[in-house]
Amino acid sequence: MKMTLSCCGISCCRNTAPLDARVSQDEIGRVYDKIANVYDIWGNLTESHARNRAIELAAIKDGQNILEVAVGTGLAFYEIVKRNPHGQNVGIDLSKGMLAKAQHRLAKVAGANYSLKTGTAFDLPVQNESLDLLVNNYMFDLIPYEKMGKILMEFRRVLKKDGKLVLVNMTEGETMGSKLYDFIYRLSPKTMGGCRGVRLTDKLEQQGFTIEVREYCQQMLFPSEIILAHKHPGAITI
Ligand SMILES: C[S@@+](CC[C@H](N)C(=O)[O-])C[C@H]1O[C@@H](n2cnc3c(N)ncnc32)[C@H](O)[C@@H]1O
Repeated sequence: MKMTLSCCGISCCRNTAPLDARVSQDEIGRVYDKIANVYDIWGNLTESHARNRAIELAAIKDGQNILEVAVGTGLAFYEIVKRNPHGQNVGIDLSKGMLAKAQHRLAKVAGANYSLKTGTAFDLPVQNESLDLLVNNYMFDLIPYEKMGKILMEFRRVLKKDGKLVLVNMTEGETMGSKLYDFIYRLSPKTMGGCRGVRLTDKLEQQGFTIEVREYCQQMLFPSEIILAHKHPGAITI
């Protein structure tokens, strides 16, 4: 057996193969309906730095056509809608419970211009090449590797030629302590809300995206990657 440094020295952590999704997409909506009331505690304690950086990288200009996929309780969507009062802001998610929380949060933005609806990343309710910006935070860490390409093709379909893709994911920890969360996932995927560390850069390049920025960010030892990408000019939209 190949020995490598691991977070805790327990044999299960010595496996270096990428972790794959273990909570099915059929179950995910129900899992997030159940945790919607407490999600923001986790979302603020461990993910807020990465989410804020994603909003910076998005550099939103008022009047844009923006979609957030897997909008959750609206932690990022709130910031998007505030910055884009004269544009189009649409948020979709599988979980009605998470969407209800987002609706409640967005009601606080005066004169806000947005819509929130149930929907899946596999089949976006959006026309070809119509979006200036697509934001997607902490969803690919729930998706099986073999299905990621299908979603990225759908993202490529809806983005304008010069459109931006901004992604945040739980990623593989780069320090000893940050591997704790993947360790918990191995024991109980649902305790982690189905999220495990992924690295999306290769998949993005395979699907015709050019990566401009990939940053690693750690908060409370929780490892995130923030990615800014564009459609590769030569990529064909199917
Ligand atoms: C970890 S939460 C992240 C929520 C939000 N993006 C944030 O950063 O706080 C994951 C969200 O992805 C949603 N989700 C998972 N798979 C999805 C899919 N295929 N299409 C749309 N939403 C999905 C879940 O319902 C859940 O709300």
